[in-house]
Amino acid sequence: MSQPLVIRIGICGLGTVGQGVWKHLSRIRTELESRLGVKLELARASVRDRRKVRTVKLAPGKLTTDPLAVATDPNIDIVCELIGGTTVARDVTLAALACGKVVVSANKALISKHGAELFETARRHGGHFLFEASVAGGIPLIKALREGLVANRFPLIYGILNGTCNYILTQMEEQDAPYPAILGEAKKLGYAEADESLDVLGWDTAHKAVVLAFLAHGTWVKPEQMIVEGIDRITPGDFKNAAALGYGIKLLAVIARDFKSGELSVRVHPTLLPESHVVAKVSGVFNAVSVQGDVAGTTLYIGRGAGQDATASAVISDLVDAVSLLKNDRRAFITARKSNAPARPEKVCRLAPPAHIRGRYYLRMTVSDEPGVLAQIAAAMAGQGVSIASVIQSAQEPAGAASLVLTTHQSDERAIAATLSRLARLKCVLEKPLLLRIGDFSE
Ligand SMILES: NC(=O)c1ccc[n+]([C@@H]2O[C@H](COP(=O)([O-])OP(=O)(O)OC[C@H]3O[C@@H](n4cnc5c(N)ncnc54)[C@H](OP(=O)(O)O)[C@@H]3O)[C@@H](O)[C@H]2O)c1
Repeated sequence: MSQPLVIRIGICGLGTVGQGVWKHLSRIRTELESRLGVKLELARASVRDRRKVRTVKLAPGKLTTDPLAVATDPNIDIVCELIGGTTVARDVTLAALACGKVVVSANKALISKHGAELFETARRHGGHFLFEASVAGGIPLIKALREGLVANRFPLIYGILNGTCNYILTQMEEQDAPYPAILGEAKKLGYAEADESLDVLGWDTAHKAVVLAFLAHGTWVKPEQMIVEGIDRITPGDFKNAAALGYGIKLLAVIARDFKSGELSVRVHPTLLPESHVVAKVSGVFNAVSVQGDVAGTTLYIGRGAGQDATASAVISDLVDAVSLLKNDRRAFITARKSNAPARPEKVCRLAPPAHIRGRYYLRMTVSDEPGVLAQIAAAMAGQGVSIASVIQSAQEPAGAASLVLTTHQSDERAIAATLSRLARLKCVLEKPLLLRIGDFSE
């Protein structure tokens, strides 16, 4: 009987995710081996600091502080890049791909910045780049877009892609507590990083939106070209105002494509969603993504978007695909096309100008509490063609100030941006207005 093929796996980065992969792969290795008909060997891992205490135990010879040595080791077939960031991680990924290896990555920041280069390097050297864990953690969303929904084009994808922000928003609403207090709590519980900015300012969600837009539309959008707004200016009062209007507030990524004009818009912003909407009900650290396909209709995905176990689950799913790629030439040919290509390669795809991105808006501003203020504001808005749909007014500290909350009828991003700059110049507007978008999604 011939010996089964031995597939050697190297893990660069043995932190939260790396240790999860090592732990779960060790646990289910025998089962996977019999299913795949190969031997799997956890060959080597790299860390920055060897002295750190880790929950997984490795033979000393398997641990190195040189991730490039793992990436280029001729005995290693699959390299998991679980370091994070865009510097060492990029070097490691490019080096492994240049050796023709399969690289499995959870690194959305790296993909959104250097995706085109990574895929091109994989293509040129016959390697493969797999990245299920980079978006929505344990939810197999990338597989759904690429495989399950391959017959579809995607006019609209939107959802909650950052568990930290969803946790903060949920707690602010439930506890009627301000953002800084809940952020502090989230840090203590390990739900927010020491430097929270990437999450709360919307950039982590933007990186994931870039990956999804590439998969769905074959275009790399730069986060700097997108509307990216975070949750740091939202107050408990905004939740009360939203509830009075029948809405909840969620940080959403929205990827919308008009197939007639070819225009694509990719954006991230806090959004008012009708309270009855299923995504509005997804609370805590969970992610939720709605995918509208032109053939399948709307499908919805809810689950843990991060954390050691959920992310390890996605990495191991890619490892199994990587084994299939290495094991079977015929399947390798089919999957290779899938792994290095978007779900829907679209040549004619350009970014929608702000005037073409339409929607309704929520504006909250602190104004001086005196006669004629509403008329001045209404005139400033009308000057840009933005009309008011509803008004909520309440007295506010300091004395002499009032909180004014307006919703608008349909307008567009160009008109609302011009309105905001007009409002900022009015003496009666005491601080920068807060703008939230209203999500008119049917499902
Ligand atoms: N954590 C999650 O829930 C989650 C979810 C989805 C995706 N991801 C992504 O998964 C990746 C890993 O995240 P993580 O949370 O596991 O990170 P982490 O806990 O900080 O682990 C990073 C690992 O990389 C090593 N490392 C860091 N900088 C290095 C350098 N300059 N040279 C060599 N090794 C270095 C660290 O070594 P030491 O251990 O010695 O410090 C550590 O083992 C990131 O791309 C992240 O965005 C994470």
